[in-house]
Amino acid sequence: MKKINRKATLSILLGIFILMQFSQIDKTNPPIDQKLDFIEITKPSEEIATMLKGACYDCHSHQVKYPWYTNIAPISWWVKGHIDNGVIELNFSEWGNYRASKANHKLEESFEKVERKEMPLTAYLILHPLARLTEEQRTELVNFFKSQMTDELSF
Ligand code: HEC
Repeated sequence: MKKINRKATLSILLGIFILMQFSQIDKTNPPIDQKLDFIEITKPSEEIATMLKGACYDCHSHQVKYPWYTNIAPISWWVKGHIDNGVIELNFSEWGNYRASKANHKLEESFEKVERKEMPLTAYLILHPLARLTEEQRTELVNFFKSQMTDELSF
């Protein structure tokens, strides 16, 4: 009796899992205008550009690379949630459209988040070795964000 119940439970769980797969996430990146791109505008060193692309662009741009596991629900839904929320807060692909005050504010937030190790998100580090920044890399990235701030008041 016990055995049958376990089998039934497993079948139900498997059924739910299979049904979940019918709801795939949208992986299309909106078209980008290179002229508005943060890296294009600020022209950082190769090293900084690699850090930004490897540690921030997957959630904060329209150049998102979707790894294989984003084909599997519910992981895909969870990852998509991070991307959708991340890009609303900060979009490096739209940088050229930010007013100076907004850009300054986002730069300030960025260096603070990197300094406090709040960004990149911890969960992201597991499968993205490029995003595991060393102390020196963090300092370089923080200094770069600071160097891009202008005197315009950020309010
Ligand atoms: C795995 C996805 C992911 C990665 C990678 C990531 N972020 Fe985020 N980021 C988010 C999400 C989600 C939010 C919004 C929720 C929150 O603040 O935690 C956010 C919020 C932010 C904010 C707050 C914006 C504001 O105005 O409040 C900044 C700044 C930021 N991220 C900078 C960065 C930087 C810089 C990097 C790279 C070093 C980075 N993030 C990497 C997902 C990510």
